[in-house]
Amino acid sequence: MIARTADVDLDVFRRYAGLSLPRHVSYPMPSWWHALEVTDVDSMIAASSDAATVHDLSLYIHVPFCEALCKFCACHRTVQPKGSTEHAELTEKYVDAMVREIEMIAARLSRSRVVRQVHWGGGTPTYLTEEQIERVHRAMESAFDVSDDAEISIEIDPRVTTRCMLEALRSLGFNRISMGVQDFDEQVQRHVRRTQSYDMVLATVTDCRELGFDAVNFDLIYGMPYQTMDTIRQTIEATIKLSPDRIAYYHYAQIPEKIATQRGMDYTQLPTSEAKLEMFTLGQELFTQAGYDFIGLDHFAKPEESLGVAAADGSLQRNFQGMTTGGGLDMLGIGASSIGQLLGVGFLQNIKQTDEYIACIERGDLPIERGKRFTPDDVIRQRLLNQLYCHAEIRAEWIERAFEIRFADYFAREIEILETLERDGLVVRVDAGVYRVTNPLGRVLMRTVAAVFDAYLAPEAYRLGEDAKFSANA
Ligand SMILES: C[S@@+](CC[C@H](N)C(=O)[O-])C[C@H]1O[C@@H](n2cnc3c(N)ncnc32)[C@H](O)[C@@H]1O
Ligand code: SF4
Repeated sequence: MIARTADVDLDVFRRYAGLSLPRHVSYPMPSWWHALEVTDVDSMIAASSDAATVHDLSLYIHVPFCEALCKFCACHRTVQPKGSTEHAELTEKYVDAMVREIEMIAARLSRSRVVRQVHWGGGTPTYLTEEQIERVHRAMESAFDVSDDAEISIEIDPRVTTRCMLEALRSLGFNRISMGVQDFDEQVQRHVRRTQSYDMVLATVTDCRELGFDAVNFDLIYGMPYQTMDTIRQTIEATIKLSPDRIAYYHYAQIPEKIATQRGMDYTQLPTSEAKLEMFTLGQELFTQAGYDFIGLDHFAKPEESLGVAAADGSLQRNFQGMTTGGGLDMLGIGASSIGQLLGVGFLQNIKQTDEYIACIERGDLPIERGKRFTPDDVIRQRLLNQLYCHAEIRAEWIERAFEIRFADYFAREIEILETLERDGLVVRVDAGVYRVTNPLGRVLMRTVAAVFDAYLAPEAYRLGEDAKFSANA
C-alpha cells in the first residue's frame, strides 16, 4: 500500500517531529562508550573467539581522505587536495598502517573464521591509487581466508573515479559499487558544493555495468537546502532511469554543532518538517511504483537484490553503513575511526585522528581506543531495535526465542508507552505481543518508537527528546 501524507495527523506529526533523538546506527549509542585498555580489547577478542558460536567475519576498511569537501557531509573525513608531497607521504603511511593493522588483528584470530563480506568506506576510498588499494586488498587476502563468494563493496565518488580505477577494482574481485549521488538538481548541488552532472553519473553506472559489477547502489539525501518537491521528484525520476540495484534515501542529518561546514548552509532554504514528510512519502511512492521494495527505515532495493533476501532470511541489520546484509558476522574495523562489532560482546573503535592512528601502529600497538562492552540488557535491546529499524515491527516471540525473558514482564514500562504511541497512530498492536510501525507516520518517526526502548535515555525522551532527563528533573 502506498503511504500518503494526507493520511497523517499533522498535529501529532508536529508534536514529535524535530525532537533530537538517536538514529541508532549503534546501540548503545557512541556517547555511552568508554576508553578501552589493551587488556579490555584482548579480553573482548578472546570472548568472541571462545563463544559457543564463533562467527565468520565482515571487514570495514576506512579511508578518510577526500579531495574536496561537500558541505552537508557528516562522515569522518579529512580534506587533502592532491598534488602536495606532504599529502602523498601521509597517504602512503596510512596505507602502510592499514596493512600492518590487518596483520596485527588477523594474528589474534583463528584462521578458521572466514571473511564473507568486505566494505571500503570513507571519506573517499578511491582517493588512493589502484596500487595502494591493491596493496591493502592483498594484505587482507594473505592474512585471512576470504570466501570465494564474499561480497566486496566500495563507496565511490563519481567525480573522482576513473574507468581505469573501476577496472582495477573489478579485477581484484570487488563486486559491488556504492555511489554518492545525493541530488541531481544543479542549484542544490552548487549550494552543497557537490556538482556532478547526470551524464557523469550515467557514464560511471555504464562503466560499472560493462565491467560486470553485481550491483550498483546509489546514496541520495532529502531535506537539504533548496530541495523542493519538484527537485526531489526530478532526482528520483533520474535515479529510476539509471536503475540502481539499491537506493539509500537518507534524511539529511543536520548537526552544525558538530559539523562545522554545515554551518555554511543557507538555513532559510531548508525544507520544513512537513515538506520532508512529503519528500519521504514521494520517495516511497515513486520507488515502489518503479518496482523497488521499501526496506527498513530508508532503503529501497530491487526484489532480487541481496538486501531484500536478507530482509526475508533475518540477516538484515542496521549499522554504521546503513542497512546491510551480514547480520550474523563479527565486524572488524580497519583504519582511523573505524568501528568493529563483536556480536554479543561489544563495540571497538579505532583512534580517530589519522596521524595518531598511524603513530600508534608504527609503535606496534593495536589502534583500538574506545568502545563498549555489552551488558546482557544491551544485547536484548540491540536485537529488538534491529528488528524495529529493519522490519518496522516488534515481535515478542522473536525476543523470547532468543533470550530467556518474558517480553510482557521485561518490557512492561515500554509496553505502556507503546499504548500512547498507538493512540497517536505511530504503531498498531496487530496481535498479542506484535506491534507494527505505521506508514508513513510511524516510519518517519521511527526514532520516537525506538527511543522508548533505549535504556540510556530518560523514560520521557520519546516525547521530549534527548534532553528529557533535564526537563523531567526540572
Ligand atoms: C561516507 S559518505 C562516502 C561517500 C563518498 N565519499 C561520496 O561522496 O560519494 C557515505 C554517504 O553518507 C551520506 N551522508 C553524508 N553526510 C550526510 C548527512 N549529513 N546526512 C545524511 N546523509 C549523509 C551520503 O549520502 C554519502 O554518500
Ligand atoms: S560526501 Fe563523500 S566526498 Fe563529500 S566530503 Fe563526504 S565523504 Fe568526502
